[in-house]
Amino acid sequence: MTDLSVLALVGVILALILVYAIRLRAVPMPTSAKAANEIIAYIPNDTRAVTDFGSGWGDMALAIARARPDIKVTGIELSPIPYAISRMRSILAATPNLDFIRADYRSLDRDPGDVVVCFVDPRAMEDIGDVLSQRMASGGIVLSRAFAVPGWQAFGEVPMKTGNDRLYLYRIGSHKPGIVA
Ligand SMILES: C[S@@+](CC[C@H](N)C(=O)[O-])C[C@H]1O[C@@H](n2cnc3c(N)ncnc32)[C@H](O)[C@@H]1O
Repeated sequence: MTDLSVLALVGVILALILVYAIRLRAVPMPTSAKAANEIIAYIPNDTRAVTDFGSGWGDMALAIARARPDIKVTGIELSPIPYAISRMRSILAATPNLDFIRADYRSLDRDPGDVVVCFVDPRAMEDIGDVLSQRMASGGIVLSRAFAVPGWQAFGEVPMKTGNDRLYLYRIGSHKPGIVA
């Protein structure tokens, strides 16, 4: 491979990351191991399946899969480069309970399981709220780092020890004011 073709390949990769970040209005910023552990502590013991909405490079999903081998973890990511890297990381990490799907979580017709984690962008939260209201069963837990779901009522709002973010905790069924599961 010549220097020029390496440069062209790097350019295409960076351009793809940028185009998807603009299109999805979300930068693939990973969750650190410390922040992931804080979030994992809120996943209930009897959880069977967790979905990471917008799994980026796979950091959060990998951390959950390693910490909780009893849980089936799925990351959904549309941006092709972060998705491909997360797939490679899961193969290298040999985590049989972890899977990644390349899709738009807004249109993927799939049961997200008992718990959804997300760390996306304030502009994405209304769509996430709509999708989860339709697809998650009553009793499901949503853990949203940094951004609240508009119109939803959190049962917990925890300042994270790592950084300045808050973690918003919702329970489907009592996530809207006036509704009690
Ligand atoms: C800040 S990153 C979070 C990465 C990961 N959840 C973590 O905590 O390590 C947000 C990711 O959401 C993805 N994303 C945004 N909108 C999406 C959509 N509609 N469908 C799938 N992925 C989406 C972006 O491409 C980006 O990689």
